[in-house]
Amino acid sequence: MEKRLEKRHILLGITGSIAAYKVCEVLRLLQHQGAEIQVVMTESAQHFITPLTFETLSDHEVITDLFPSHRTVKTRHVSMAEWADCILICPATANIIGKIASGIADDFLSTVVMASRSPVLFAPAMDYQMVRNSIYLSNCEKLEKLGYRFISPEEGELASGAVGPGRLADIRRIIESVKKALLGSDNLKQVRILVTAGPTQEFLDPVRYLTNPSSGKMGYAIAEEASLRGADVTLISGPTDLQTFQNIRLIEIKTAEELARVTKKEWKDHQVLIMAAAVADFRPLKLSRKKIKKETAEWVLQLEQTEDILKSIGEKKGDRIVVGFALETENAERHAIQKLHNKKCDLICLNNPDGPGSGFGQDTNRITLIDAKENVEHLLLMEKWQVAQHILDRVALLLKEKVIA
Ligand SMILES: Cc1cc2nc3c(=O)[nH]c(=O)nc-3n(C[C@H](O)[C@H](O)[C@H](O)COP(=O)(O)O)c2cc1C
Repeated sequence: MEKRLEKRHILLGITGSIAAYKVCEVLRLLQHQGAEIQVVMTESAQHFITPLTFETLSDHEVITDLFPSHRTVKTRHVSMAEWADCILICPATANIIGKIASGIADDFLSTVVMASRSPVLFAPAMDYQMVRNSIYLSNCEKLEKLGYRFISPEEGELASGAVGPGRLADIRRIIESVKKALLGSDNLKQVRILVTAGPTQEFLDPVRYLTNPSSGKMGYAIAEEASLRGADVTLISGPTDLQTFQNIRLIEIKTAEELARVTKKEWKDHQVLIMAAAVADFRPLKLSRKKIKKETAEWVLQLEQTEDILKSIGEKKGDRIVVGFALETENAERHAIQKLHNKKCDLICLNNPDGPGSGFGQDTNRITLIDAKENVEHLLLMEKWQVAQHILDRVALLLKEKVIA
């Protein structure tokens, strides 16, 4: 499990909305990412869900009072404001948004927000009539201008039974926004990056295909890391079990032929291509339109080569950047360097599939980076998101060099 939020402190403020029950899942997912969570609940929130639930889930006492009967810390609102790397108010009522926009600090949550200098995110949830209220809208506008962030509510079924805007944002989008607030940078701001990921499936008949064990994790990690750095990312993915950020444009494909077609089309609008997909090199020469019968006595499978996408792209890349991946089992470095030059790549990432922790399906990987001047950098075994960081650091440098040249 990816631990991108390890050692990060998140103050999770819960206010009085029916959507409060959904926050158990938000808390869990943030914990899975390694974050330490301190829950603060308003008095109204406690009508909807008990502090005991969050105390149990977070393994911390839940803060409910600005003036508790047994005071442990003199100015806990100040120390908690310093402790928090980020404050997430989820769900955020119209009331808490209005109070903060007006500078009111009359309970623990509004006071800690007043004392904090960390990013504050609101995930509003309310009925559609409240969402359209002009006082609420002008409060949001005011706060946004001051640098407070909003995870906009969605359209859908509301607690009142009505259907309309005001439903708490999808939990994935909430987690994504917290990650952006804590880890985001503008290192690749507005750079248009195209990433391919996952395996391809080469069909023999309608129900059988040839594939490989690629999980897509490496390509997805690169796409998400690029997005955290402010890039506009398009991800072309073969079949995987993975989900990605909602602001990443996802195009799903199955075959190498589809991948080639979509990649060439998309490449026209991108500045960087990172080809992390495990594309089949061969596909069946003939595709049977009908399922081949089990009773067939003998079945000889003839294969033909698929298009070499990287080569086709490399030939017309101009001054754009192309990063390839290689997986070799013999004379790995020599073959990777040949591939780099043949396909006019700027950088090649050589997978070292042997050894514990690296290779298909793992959360970790061990790769070697080779650039066009044949400089070789061996990376240690690390999490795939860390590998993604190394690759994107190189991409950022290459982009800088192109600007200077
Ligand atoms: C059943 C019920 C559901 C409510 N749901 C919401 C809601 O989804 N969003 C909202 O802004 N207010 C909602 N309210 C109103 C708030 O609970 C109320 O404004 C309260 O004062 C908010 O306090 P707080 O912001 O300190 O938590 C609801 C009230 C009730 C009784």
